[in-house]
Amino acid sequence: MLVRDGAIVATGPSDGIESQVSPEAEVVDATGCVVLPGFVDAHAHPVFAGNRVDEFELRARGATYEEIAASGGGIRSTVRKTRAATEDQLLAQAIKHAEWFLRGGTTTVEAKSGYGLSLEDEVKILRVVRRLNDETAVEFVPTFLGAHAIPEEFQSTPERYVGLVIDEMLPRVAEEELAEFCDVFCEHGYFDIETSRKILSAAKERGLGLRMHADQLTNSGGAELAAELGAVTADHLEQTEAPGIAAMKRAGVQPVLLPGSVYALGKNRYPRAREMIEAGLAVVIATDFNPGSSPTPSMPMVLSLAATQMKMTPAEGVSAATINAAYSLNRGDKIGSLEAGKLANFTLFDCADYRELAYYFGVPQTHSVFVGGERVYPL
Ligand code: NIG
Ligand code: FE
Repeated sequence: MLVRDGAIVATGPSDGIESQVSPEAEVVDATGCVVLPGFVDAHAHPVFAGNRVDEFELRARGATYEEIAASGGGIRSTVRKTRAATEDQLLAQAIKHAEWFLRGGTTTVEAKSGYGLSLEDEVKILRVVRRLNDETAVEFVPTFLGAHAIPEEFQSTPERYVGLVIDEMLPRVAEEELAEFCDVFCEHGYFDIETSRKILSAAKERGLGLRMHADQLTNSGGAELAAELGAVTADHLEQTEAPGIAAMKRAGVQPVLLPGSVYALGKNRYPRAREMIEAGLAVVIATDFNPGSSPTPSMPMVLSLAATQMKMTPAEGVSAATINAAYSLNRGDKIGSLEAGKLANFTLFDCADYRELAYYFGVPQTHSVFVGGERVYPL
């Protein structure tokens, strides 16, 4: 692979490339390594304060995610901590998360807000995302998720919070170009179908692309709503059945599957990846990195889960974690594969066969990571 000025110029056998290499070129020797495009993690919540390790123990002792949320924990507990944190404190913690992504070979990460749930705190998170792009080698793609939960102070008047999202947050996010996408947690007890339709329609009018947390805990017709609205992606889909899959296919919605959250919540119903692939959908897999349901930034771990729990082949997993994911973030022309004209974002892994990435789970195999042709890990 020949790289110049941060972009890939040519790929192929050495014979065809070496004649184009100038003497001062730097040579990266990948002998014995697998070289892949940097992973594109198309669903993540990387900006938050603190963690929820206390709830992790409660779940180990038998409590469920839903019970913990109903008693005031869950998303709301991270919201309390994130509101109390300054922008600089959030940035410092998120920089640590960015380093974890790189270590797993990930070079692009979607970044949702959603732990602020007030105008100022949502904007604070999206500003942190912007600063992460300046201060780390990872590219972060911002998504506005003001409709992640109803905050405590609006518990008895949820419709007023929805009004705030539509009338104050969305206009500000659009005006300051703080996000490329808008997402909603469409779920009983969070935002129902009617409310999700209202919020996402308003976002669409303001020019934002649509993503959706759909059918995670219950099947409420989230996949069908994503299709109706022309969303770019419908994510989670653990409870989605054949009609939802058919609707996504008709409308060209990409499914984003998050097996790390099923695993970490100790559940056993994984989304129907095989049926989606068989239907011809360009399936994406992502970490859902967040402090509650999926505290992993590791795409190799997700590749393992995709193979063992969703019966995706290692090759389908790699496509879902790179090129399909790049298209779902409107970046299919720039990243996600190693082809002439694309950015030179790539990772070397210490293995001889790409299938070993999913096979040897829990062991770091990243040798080095390059963004725009520059080595960014290890430094
Ligand atoms: O994708 N489902 C909603 N949002 C996250 C969980 C967030 C949290 O628990 O903090 C998810 O699983
Ligand atoms: Fe999520």
